[in-house]
Amino acid sequence: MFIQFALIFIIYTMEINYSERRSSLSAKALEDSAIIVSSATVKSRISDTDYAYRQDSNFYYLSGYEEPDSLLLIRPSADKDKYIIFCRDRDPLREQWDGFRSGQEGAVDRYGADKAFSINSLDEVMPKMLEGIKNIYFSMSAPSGVDQKVKKWIESIRINTRAGAEPPQNLLSLDNLIHEMRLIKEDAEIDIMKKAASITTEAHIRAMQYVKPGMYEYQLEAEYLYAFNKNGARSPAYNSIVGGGNNSCILHYVENNDELKDGDLVLVDAGCEYEYYASDVTRTFPVNGKFSAEQKEIYSIVLEAHHQSMNQAQPGNKWNLMHEKSVEVIVEGLLSLGLLKGSKEEIIEKGEYSKFYMHRIGHWLGMDVHDVGSYKQDGDWRKLEKGMVMTIEPGIYILDSLEGVDDKWKGIGVRIEDDILVTDSGFEILTPDVPRTIEEVEQTVQG
Ligand code: GLY
Ligand code: MN
Ligand code: MN
Repeated sequence: MFIQFALIFIIYTMEINYSERRSSLSAKALEDSAIIVSSATVKSRISDTDYAYRQDSNFYYLSGYEEPDSLLLIRPSADKDKYIIFCRDRDPLREQWDGFRSGQEGAVDRYGADKAFSINSLDEVMPKMLEGIKNIYFSMSAPSGVDQKVKKWIESIRINTRAGAEPPQNLLSLDNLIHEMRLIKEDAEIDIMKKAASITTEAHIRAMQYVKPGMYEYQLEAEYLYAFNKNGARSPAYNSIVGGGNNSCILHYVENNDELKDGDLVLVDAGCEYEYYASDVTRTFPVNGKFSAEQKEIYSIVLEAHHQSMNQAQPGNKWNLMHEKSVEVIVEGLLSLGLLKGSKEEIIEKGEYSKFYMHRIGHWLGMDVHDVGSYKQDGDWRKLEKGMVMTIEPGIYILDSLEGVDDKWKGIGVRIEDDILVTDSGFEILTPDVPRTIEEVEQTVQG
């Protein structure tokens, strides 16, 4: 007789805790403060048709709330109603046309607001909520126009001072407080970023398998968009760059409308956004599956720069070390090929390498592809810490029009970009399985 055991798997997915984030932010604010965060605005594309709406990153980070026309008010030192959401009213007709709205009831029940008001009552309610509070924090970098509104609300408190009203005294920037929080990723964020990275990995492998001479750049781009969407990543984290031949040397090339030619390289910088978190990966591969001798030389230098820079990503190391290492390796490589001439030190000192390598080694990565967080502190490059996520993306670009360069190098542009997480003892590559070495890339394209 068999006894069947039912195996119960408890699948534990870490959840983002928005309430904890609001508490941490509140603890960083000065006493007697209010924090105001405005939603992103809807942007019209053509008449009656809007661009896909995406919530403001800070707003989503603190609330998980995705509707436009809304505003968060956090009052850490208030006796009650510490967390307030202003949002759109329920409207059966508009909801039939444009989709569901949470309304004020949903803002309280589903998003944890202590109280919610109609966004239509903002100018009437907000001055009452701010009266008697000393400091107001809001983002001075988000283009939401909230600064003008804050001034208006304060003004309407000020006109009642003779009746005893106490207007706020200090307007403070929220940016640094929240950016520093967002810079250090929580475990739940890292889980999401790994998912974004794995979708992007699948997309790059798919594209390498599909590429062939005669295809158009936009057709290759379509393979990425397909892989993103199929896996629930409904948008790229930024406009995909798909550049064949000389187009690979144009850093922000997004026309993506040329034919991919036999013998050329194609550079693809494409990453998906998944649940509000970005991935950002570049691979450069031969359209016909085989690197030429010259392409191999340039690729090998960039790969070595990638490898050596990444090894500098140790907690406690200064941010700039990674960039400096990439410059050093690239200059040495270009000197060995005769593309640069002179002494290494002088070339670095004078920045002469920048006609081939004109950008920095990378950037923070998170909810925004070029994520928030400062790179310097007190005038010096900041040190890496556990939980920071960044890109490593050295490159060499030899434009057709570059003077003083042998023709055989022209039209070769190579960038290799991966996403990494700083850990306790070093780093973890979030995108380890995107083919990277010459052999891996050739095998995948030919495969
Ligand atoms: N894709 C934008 C960047 O690599 O920074
Ligand atoms: Mn990129
Ligand atoms: Mn990047």
